[in-house]
Amino acid sequence: MSRVISAHAVSVDGYITGRDPGAGHGLGDGTMLFDWYFDGDTPSQVFDGFKLSGPSARVFDSLAARLGAVVAGRNTYEDSERFGGGGPHPGVRLIVLSHGALSEVGERQTLVTTGVEDAIAAAREAAGGKDVALMGGGVLAAALAAGLVDEVILHQVPVLLGGGRRFFQELPEHVSLRLLEAVPAPGVTHLRYEVVR
Ligand SMILES: NC(=O)c1ccc[n+]([C@@H]2O[C@H](COP(=O)([O-])OP(=O)(O)OC[C@H]3O[C@@H](n4cnc5c(N)ncnc54)[C@H](OP(=O)(O)O)[C@@H]3O)[C@@H](O)[C@H]2O)c1
Repeated sequence: MSRVISAHAVSVDGYITGRDPGAGHGLGDGTMLFDWYFDGDTPSQVFDGFKLSGPSARVFDSLAARLGAVVAGRNTYEDSERFGGGGPHPGVRLIVLSHGALSEVGERQTLVTTGVEDAIAAAREAAGGKDVALMGGGVLAAALAAGLVDEVILHQVPVLLGGGRRFFQELPEHVSLRLLEAVPAPGVTHLRYEVVR
């Protein structure tokens, strides 16, 4: 069954970028958050060019293989140079969420300006029964507030960045999580939580 998940590389102090992110340098000075994608010896079966440790490859590829569509917030979209007109995952539709600051997106992308519920509905339709991934702390917070998230995955990297874009943003009330899996790996610990409803 299709699930709504979010998976981010997060510092121990809760940042998903370092300082000064922007187009072409989406992680700011926090580039070490993504080192574990490239410093292993196991090629990803899903992403060309990714070489992970064995445990990270198992976690990453099993998540990536389940994906059918992605919802990205405008900050993620712009800091990722609009994903070159495509999307962050091969062959997966990208839905961009904004309150209206964007007037258009690429032909292979869909812009939604009517709220996170509509963005996730569009993504579910595009996903054809596969999972929907949320990208960006703002989008995740909006989706959590709307009760639409099934899993929150932290690829927790052992660094205190001390600044950058915060992953954890304000919520109208608390959200309980249940730990499904904790996988220690070189340079990262994969923590998979289910949202308790
Ligand atoms: N470490 C990782 O794994 C990872 C993964 C993904 C992204 N990133 C980085 O994380 C940063 C993401 O930044 P972020 O968390 O600040 O932002 P974000 O979630 O990517 O984008 C926030 C924007 O999304 C739109 N939005 C959010 N909720 C909405 C709603 N309910 N209705 C309509 N629009 C809504 C708004 O756009 P408008 O202002 O246009 O209205 C809002 O300003 C980027 O720098 C990216 O490079 C890191």
